[in-house]
Amino acid sequence: MSVGKRAKRVTTHILQAMKENGEKIAMLTAYDYSTARILDDAGIDILLVGDSAANVMAGHETTLPITLDEIIYHASSVVRGVNRAMVVVDLPFGSYQGNSKEALSTAIRIMKTSGAHAVKLEGGEEVKESIERILTAGIPVMGHLGLTPQSIYKFGTYTVRATKKEEADKLVADAKLLEDVGCFAVVLEKIPADLAKMVATAIRIPVIGIGAGPHVDGQVLVVHDMLGITQEFKPRFLRRYLNLYDDIKQAVQRYIEDVKLKEFPNESEQY
Ligand code: KIV
Repeated sequence: MSVGKRAKRVTTHILQAMKENGEKIAMLTAYDYSTARILDDAGIDILLVGDSAANVMAGHETTLPITLDEIIYHASSVVRGVNRAMVVVDLPFGSYQGNSKEALSTAIRIMKTSGAHAVKLEGGEEVKESIERILTAGIPVMGHLGLTPQSIYKFGTYTVRATKKEEADKLVADAKLLEDVGCFAVVLEKIPADLAKMVATAIRIPVIGIGAGPHVDGQVLVVHDMLGITQEFKPRFLRRYLNLYDDIKQAVQRYIEDVKLKEFPNESEQY
């Protein structure tokens, strides 16, 4: 049996062994207890309590507005729904870039109050000190490079990153730095597949891609996107496995009709 399937709990060591064994890592986002239970039961390896909660749960245009209290609420709910998956939590925008002491206290608060297993933060060289300080407290850190949505106002668009040599070189250097400082994994978002392949070969730690092609160690998607709950978001990298928007809408329309026509509840649905 594969290393991943044998694991009762997915840990950083299991993920490392999966990479070394050539076993792909499956990661999705989750923000609530009920969904986390289903995804964990299905066998997902990592659940990311992403700051994308700002978009899909709260309806914000960017990921910037989510607060530490809000991400902790989502993380605690997800942790209660999980038996096997590793739960990784995004550090919200503004909670770690200022100085490394603030980064550490943010990470400690998340770990202590939610029961999560690791944190994720965006950036390379610029946040090195913050990552190092968090790691000294024994908290596993996942990096995030390429399209880093917390920097959307710097980029100006959500288009593919690192297509030019200078940015690609910086990304490779940042990925090596994240490995060297002790991150257990790194997410690469929306970069050319060849570049992602090069990074996944060059560094020892698992590389999880989103819009980064197939030659990485695992894949991550936002659960609302892959289940088809969101409709307007249609990047090329997204594969929709369901069309829940339509399914839920139709079910609700049937319910409304049953209520209006007095067909719900029936004899067996009352006391
Ligand atoms: O917040 C998020 O959902 C993420 C993934 C896109 C990797 O960071």
